[in-house]
Amino acid sequence: MRKPVIAGNWKLFKTSGEAVDFVTELVPLVKDIIDVEIVIAPAFTVLATVQKKLEGSGLHLAGQDCFWENEGAYTGEVSPLMLSDAGCSHVIIGHSERRLYFGETDDTVNKKLKAALKGGLTPIFCIGETLEEREAGDTFNVLRTQIAGGLKGIPAGNVNRMVIAYEPVWAIGTGKTASDGQAQEAHKFMRGLLSEFYDWTIAEETRILYGGSVKPENIKGLMAQPDIDGALVGGASLKAESFASIVRFKQ
Ligand code: 13P
Repeated sequence: MRKPVIAGNWKLFKTSGEAVDFVTELVPLVKDIIDVEIVIAPAFTVLATVQKKLEGSGLHLAGQDCFWENEGAYTGEVSPLMLSDAGCSHVIIGHSERRLYFGETDDTVNKKLKAALKGGLTPIFCIGETLEEREAGDTFNVLRTQIAGGLKGIPAGNVNRMVIAYEPVWAIGTGKTASDGQAQEAHKFMRGLLSEFYDWTIAEETRILYGGSVKPENIKGLMAQPDIDGALVGGASLKAESFASIVRFKQ
């Protein structure tokens, strides 16, 4: 059984006051939910503040990125060790915004995934095609290349410790969600890749999330798909009420 994961990616939003207000409102709204892994990924500067507010809540904290070394002369970077130290259990890696604006490649993503796993974090490994790639009929090729590149050299025993997030770039922040069928098709394909690269047990155990304009109104349909194990939520994770209703998708 794959435990569903609902993760909120705050991106470049929320000062410490706003983060505290959010968590204060969210925790009571989801405190009875024990069968969903709830993750919040704030900006680095508010991790420690959010962590204090999450103590005892059962909610998980994530970084939005990490570097592949634990320490050294790398100005501006944050390491897996530092994320753990700040109370993170998860880290988002390879988000399409990082690939687009900050030069991340399958190779850097691969190094970061290995470092995060080594540091005991659960990586949320993001992949997804652009609109041009989808329209050119290249979606499956792109997903194959990104998964193969990201997972290069990562042993089977580590793969099922991570979470994969399928985020079609054309669905991010556009209000244009992939249909339940489009998302399921991609997720099924990715699970097939995991069984090709590893084996069927690994494929069955690894959780694959959908991301891209997830909202309270569309989460139920997505979660009803057999290969969708949760969601990585951007905009709708910024309000406690909408994030809580996504977390409560079973009701
Ligand atoms: P939106 O939910 O705002 O489309 O963002 C999705 C995303 O990029 C989550 O990582």
